[in-house]
Amino acid sequence: MKTVLIRAAIPGDLVYIRALERQADTAAHWAEREYDALFAEDAPARVALIAVEEKAGDGIEGFVIARCAVDEWEIENVVVAEGKRRSGLGSRLVRELLQLARTRGATSVLLEVRESNVGARRLYEKNGFSQTGRRRNYYRAPAEDALLLRSSLRICDKIP
Ligand SMILES: CC(C)(COP(=O)(O)OP(=O)(O)OC[C@H]1O[C@@H](n2cnc3c(N)ncnc32)[C@H](O)[C@@H]1OP(=O)(O)O)[C@@H](O)C(=O)NCCC(=O)NCCS
Repeated sequence: MKTVLIRAAIPGDLVYIRALERQADTAAHWAEREYDALFAEDAPARVALIAVEEKAGDGIEGFVIARCAVDEWEIENVVVAEGKRRSGLGSRLVRELLQLARTRGATSVLLEVRESNVGARRLYEKNGFSQTGRRRNYYRAPAEDALLLRSSLRICDKIP
């Protein structure tokens, strides 16, 4: 079995991140310029982690992107390649992100998810998130409520 490593994304990974996002209907879809701005100096602080197979050629297995405020981070997108799902990779990406947020002093990580995205909701719940609210008709095409989830990070917490 191949080892999958998780590391910070670099500008050269954007092409793979974009490609993976486009294959995932339920992912958050960003415009080209939003990805291009990810590494811009004046862009809001963000973290992008990718999952790559050790010694593999081009391509990635998954990614997570979060916006970083001082004490509150927000997961903006997480995607795992279709053929690699249900093997724990999404959880690894989310946990790495939570750990990074914790070590950088954040006290909570938030996100929004479509109510119908049961797989993503389970992934988040399994990794310590719980529902804190709902935004009615937040999403378009199709219109749907967003559920607001939060993971509170305390220094003494063990990663779930
Ligand atoms: C959501 C997503 C990232 C999960 O990635 P993953 O690598 O499959 O996640 P994991 O293997 O770590 O799964 C963790 C848990 O989440 C739950 N889960 C994940 N996918 C699920 C699905 N399709 N249906 C039901 N539960 C699911 C399960 O409880 C799973 O644990 P289990 O396999 O031990 O039962 C992946 O399905 C994906 O890329 N979806 C498309 C993009 C997307 O919707 N992103 C979320 C945007 S908010």
